[in-house]
Amino acid sequence: MSNLAVIGAGYVGITTAACFARLGHTVTCGDVDAEKVSRLAKGEIPILEEGLTALVTEGLESGRLRFAVGAAAAVDQAEFVFLCVPTPQRDDGAADLSFVEAVVREIGPILSPNTVVVNKSTMPVGSTELVARVLGHAGAVKGIGVASNPEFLREGNAVHDFLSPSRVVIGCDDTSVAIRVSELYDGVQAPIVVTDPASAEMIKYASNAFLATKISFINAIANLCEVVNADVREVALGMGYDHRIGSEFLDPGPGFGGSCLPKDTAALIYMAEQAGYDFSLLRGVEEVNRNQHERILAKLRNAAGGSLSGTRVALWGLTFKANTNDVRDSPAFAVAHCLLEEGAVIRAYDPAVNEAAAAHFPALEVVTDPYQAVVDASLLALLTEWDEFRWLDFARVAGAMVSPRAIVDARNLLDPAAMRHRGFSYQGVGR
Ligand code: UDX
Repeated sequence: MSNLAVIGAGYVGITTAACFARLGHTVTCGDVDAEKVSRLAKGEIPILEEGLTALVTEGLESGRLRFAVGAAAAVDQAEFVFLCVPTPQRDDGAADLSFVEAVVREIGPILSPNTVVVNKSTMPVGSTELVARVLGHAGAVKGIGVASNPEFLREGNAVHDFLSPSRVVIGCDDTSVAIRVSELYDGVQAPIVVTDPASAEMIKYASNAFLATKISFINAIANLCEVVNADVREVALGMGYDHRIGSEFLDPGPGFGGSCLPKDTAALIYMAEQAGYDFSLLRGVEEVNRNQHERILAKLRNAAGGSLSGTRVALWGLTFKANTNDVRDSPAFAVAHCLLEEGAVIRAYDPAVNEAAAAHFPALEVVTDPYQAVVDASLLALLTEWDEFRWLDFARVAGAMVSPRAIVDARNLLDPAAMRHRGFSYQGVGR
């Protein structure tokens, strides 16, 4: 078993630290936010992630997991340092590596030889090389290895995805270093792909851009289904049985959001541009995605009789997908934003978002009860596929709403016939 440092206590960092501790390693997770660190040290997890609280508690109790303030404090005894700091999107679409570089400059001078620095956050092609260069400039000793080991964690399923991954990808020019990194995953059943750093980095971007493409493709098919009177759910079912296509990621909706797919797609377009290749396919993927929430808005506008001005609209769901409390790049917020711009009066409910969490969007009234959200609303937009929305008392919802009692179900979660039977006008996506 090894001594690990994980730098950055976000989604990826906390999951990586807790899961490596579960695998038997001794892990110190460092973050600059002292308050976050002290909460984590008490087992308080700032994110909604199934199984993570239990795993962090287990790690803290066994003594294999601890949290520290700052990167330098975390790397003290480390044989491996996993970089899990944010790589946000710059205005031009490129990934911003300034946090990564700052951490590497800070820890470079204090790392001992034979330490391996591992890029875990999504970083553009060339980042493994960049980290090695920054280490050199920072006066690091010789003999430090650098590898890429991208994460493929879905929010809400991150613990499962870490411990039962579809694959582990390790990019390193030094085979002995790659083997050392691969040994950290002893106990995990998965194919291990050992490759060069650039290919490992590209695997991550290509995977996310492909998933984004799949979603935009099914959204485009859904839009076409509406015109030709086909049902996209039947179409997706029939397509998904072809194992070359697969049935996952064929749910149409308000467009993909979250902290990864939009950012990674933009970064790959930027990378291609820098390399002199026009990735027009991916520009199309982005365009379909941008238009998708506009289409939801158009349905709401139509249901309101042409103008949303003064219309009271209830929103169910604000997170970018169900089973997370993350609202970053959420299509629900994009819809909310446009509704407000058109003069609608909105009240929102989301099981994982309270008023404080929505504070960066002050014009939005967030309530803690789905029935409260619909009072006196003439339109209801269902924007996130939380399962609980299926099981609500729709007679009560209909009683609280006013005419035309229109539901725009951007996730195809509800049963159209049942909704019409209750007196709602119902519109889904692509059906
Ligand atoms: C994604 C990748 O799945 C993961 O491998 C990567 O490491 C990080 O990015 P995540 O952002 O957590 O994970 O969300 P994911 O479940 O992939 O969904 C992304 C977005 O696509 C969500 O907004 C979701 O609602 C949307 N989506 C997904 C669809 O609209 N339709 C689908 O069929 C699937």
